[in-house]
Amino acid sequence: MSDPTAPTSRPYPAWLEDAVFYEIYPQTFYDANGDGIGDLPGISAKLDYLQSLGVDALWLNPCFVSPFEDAGYDVSDYYQVAPRYGTNADLEALFAEARGRGIRVFLDLVPGHTSWQHPWFKASARHERNEYSDWFIWTDRVWAPAEGMRAITGLSERDGGFIINFFACQPALNYGFANPEPGHPWQQPVDAPGPRAVRQAMKDVMRFWLDRGAAGFRVDMAGSLVKQDPGRRETARLWREMRAWLDAEYPDAVLIAEWGKPSESLPAGFHMDFLLHFAQAGYTSLFRKGGDDGQWDGRYGWSFFDRSGHGNIREFLDEYLRDYATAQGRGLICIPSGNHDMGQRLAEGRETADLLCAWVFLLTMPGVPFIYYGDEIGMRTVHGLPSKEGGYQRTGARTPMQWDNALPNAGFSTAAADALYLPIHPDAARPTVADQINDRGSLLNRVRSLIALRKAHPALAASAEFRPLYAEAGKLPFVYERRTHDGSERILVALNPSAAAVTADVPGEPGPLAETLYGADAAITAHDRGWQVHLPAVSAAIYRVA
Ligand code: GLC
Ligand code: CA
Repeated sequence: MSDPTAPTSRPYPAWLEDAVFYEIYPQTFYDANGDGIGDLPGISAKLDYLQSLGVDALWLNPCFVSPFEDAGYDVSDYYQVAPRYGTNADLEALFAEARGRGIRVFLDLVPGHTSWQHPWFKASARHERNEYSDWFIWTDRVWAPAEGMRAITGLSERDGGFIINFFACQPALNYGFANPEPGHPWQQPVDAPGPRAVRQAMKDVMRFWLDRGAAGFRVDMAGSLVKQDPGRRETARLWREMRAWLDAEYPDAVLIAEWGKPSESLPAGFHMDFLLHFAQAGYTSLFRKGGDDGQWDGRYGWSFFDRSGHGNIREFLDEYLRDYATAQGRGLICIPSGNHDMGQRLAEGRETADLLCAWVFLLTMPGVPFIYYGDEIGMRTVHGLPSKEGGYQRTGARTPMQWDNALPNAGFSTAAADALYLPIHPDAARPTVADQINDRGSLLNRVRSLIALRKAHPALAASAEFRPLYAEAGKLPFVYERRTHDGSERILVALNPSAAAVTADVPGEPGPLAETLYGADAAITAHDRGWQVHLPAVSAAIYRVA
């Protein structure tokens, strides 16, 4: 037992300090049984690879029974692995095998809605009142307006419409309303019996998987549970209750929010929250300012990581520094390389040198970096695909992992090419793990080295300090310092994504440069007020200051 009176200066488990996460889209990672779709034994089969990359944790997108009208974010049984991915025993085996290699496995918890095929929803749609009548949000008449929410009507024998969170197939579970409107009794308070039962049901789901070896959860749409909740105060109260329960019964469990607002999610009890393309314009400005349809022609403005050099780091930094300030002492901010919802992969429109610059940034910032599968080898978006399982513009960034040069499926599956879940990227020169793994200078091996570097240096730890030193609107380079709280280690990171060499006088607390950790080509000299930095085109550098 830990001492309850001990100071808890770190509100998350210590292993997160140097952790790197890896997101796996189970459909397209590796198909072990040759039916054309990725599966859990396929993930187990690739643990050597993941271990050699140096990642500490995996986040699996939902792998539960589902009609897959939103790729599994429409769960119809929270307690059963979808047969297409394997069995519950396969998932437990993955937990154990991964853990044996020091890798924790996180599941995706979808608490906000079920599939409309879930038995809970089917029961709630019946005319007779039953145990599940109040588990979803139903208006009280088919003709009644839904007060700014989206209701689906005409599909049930029950008179009323059900509120949805995303697609029509995703009815919102009932966590109640923060401010139920007078005269609308169907808007129940958060502590009504239905909402209390739903809360308990989600705890039961978490308990079930934690007991079997899950390390925690990435929580889908975590901020949207309680309806009409200004400032998300009631939703935050709900999560604080969940966190108190976890701290008491599962103190090692970690909660990661898909919320995109650390100032709300971390005080609500989440250990970590993501920067997200739909929540933070600043995050989008780093890599995807061209828009999700990928127009890198300046029409929408330029990303910071762009050869034109027209990007503006302040767009990211001003917003990030606000989030960063509110996260202090509360939790961690995760900056992802991409995810299954971003229709453009990081490598879109970028060459290896550009990607290296981006990876130096991603792997030296505070918080916990997240690698979207395949980004470590520079996988690109496949354009023009029809929507798969509700993917729409997200589909092209969900294609199979490119393992080797085997035809026709790049080592992903032995099924016929037309039987694959999604096609392999059609470019014959597509990057693969096999090509890169034995090439010391490959993107894969550079990413691997950067992960190792992060782990070797306390100044790069999740909570080590971050100080921008040179971050001028519309100018380059971008230079920042990371340092341990006691100043025992200091590291400078300098980035120049542009096609032109840049030079800048960087103010800072001077100190002799002890070691070049990355990017030997760059020149940096110390003077009495800081450093002069000269970076060649499309380059990055990391230095240790003594
Ligand atoms: C989240 C998921 C996304 C899903 C949606 C609805 O944003 O990341 O893939 O479609 O929630 O569950
Ligand atoms: Ca399979």
